[in-house]
Amino acid sequence: MSTLSELPVEQIEETPTPSAAGELSGRLFGQTLGAVELVNVYLGVELGLYRSLTEDGPATPAELAERTGIDVRYAQDWLAQQAVTGLLTARGDEPSTALFSPADGVRETLVDEISPFYVGGMTYIAPSVGRALPSLVAAFRTGGGVPYAAYGPEAVTAQGALNRPAYENSLIDEWLPQVPDIQARLADTARPARVADLGAGVGWSSIRLAEAFPHIRVDGYDLDEESIARGRRYVAERGVADRVDLEVADITQPLPGGGYDLAVFFECLHDLPHPVAALEVARRSLAPGGSVIVMEEHVAESFTAPGDEVERFMAAAGTIWCVPQGRIEADSEVVGPLDIRPAVMRRLAERAGFDDVEILPIEHPFWRFYRLDVRS
Ligand SMILES: C[S@@+](CC[C@H](N)C(=O)[O-])C[C@H]1O[C@@H](n2cnc3c(N)ncnc32)[C@H](O)[C@@H]1O
Repeated sequence: MSTLSELPVEQIEETPTPSAAGELSGRLFGQTLGAVELVNVYLGVELGLYRSLTEDGPATPAELAERTGIDVRYAQDWLAQQAVTGLLTARGDEPSTALFSPADGVRETLVDEISPFYVGGMTYIAPSVGRALPSLVAAFRTGGGVPYAAYGPEAVTAQGALNRPAYENSLIDEWLPQVPDIQARLADTARPARVADLGAGVGWSSIRLAEAFPHIRVDGYDLDEESIARGRRYVAERGVADRVDLEVADITQPLPGGGYDLAVFFECLHDLPHPVAALEVARRSLAPGGSVIVMEEHVAESFTAPGDEVERFMAAAGTIWCVPQGRIEADSEVVGPLDIRPAVMRRLAERAGFDDVEILPIEHPFWRFYRLDVRS
């Protein structure tokens, strides 16, 4: 191999050096490819196509169409696209008659909703934001907000499915053991604890807590009616309706209940128009000795550009999802997912009257956990 200095001048001049524009164009093409492929993945999740291929076995287009109630031509095109991108494998040369099987990992990532690898919910972000885009464009011009409901039912599916695997797999077995006194308080059958799940969404966290500690009561509050309606169905299906109560409520206003030994904000404080008010409400709703746990984004300590993938995800989700939803009130102080850094959390907690803010030793790539206490 010759070094650069050994090459004839004319050959050096001909060596193509990637231009910044060329590299950026390649990167943006890759992202467009990802976006259009992700919408195809969404169709597979929403229409139960991966589920059928995983649970009922490999299929030809005609068989998949028959099993799932979709059109044969669309089944053929979707199966071919999925094989081309590598999520399915095809046996046969003709897409119309080939037999398609799921690639390794499809079950865990796109079918099994409680697998730690499940990401099917993420694909609902695309149709959801699609619905809200006209309102988002207007909001960018006017400075107004976009209500959560404008993102449609897909938003509730996306949000519920995104965090569910963590609640199902980690909340009880990995996270709570890192806060032994709170774990012990929840396990104390002599004094059944009361928990408030603030911004509970569809309630998966409330359900897991109630299942793990069969004597405690959990009140979950969320402003979104669709989330609470779905959550109540899940609560009934999981058999904890006698101890989990999900209510539509604005958590920046005094709560219907009180006397909580633990109040949790799971990934919702940064969305709220009035985070300090919500923290004050939580503080006032605590029983003596009660604590607040806040799960928030694991963003860098200070603004970092360019950022890593977590930073990029939070920045992108912030502009199109969290910040517009938090700006629905004129005097909004919404923080957003990119700016909810430890120093900001400390300031919010101090303004809300908490004396102690501790970052808990729970390791997670996406989240940081804070414990807020009031000295008695
Ligand atoms: C990012 S989601 C998190 C939901 C849930 N904790 C989870 O982990 O899946 C934020 C939630 O905050 C709720 N929310 C926003 N503003 C609220 C308010 N003022 N009062 C109660 N809930 C609110 C939204 O409806 C949404 O369900």
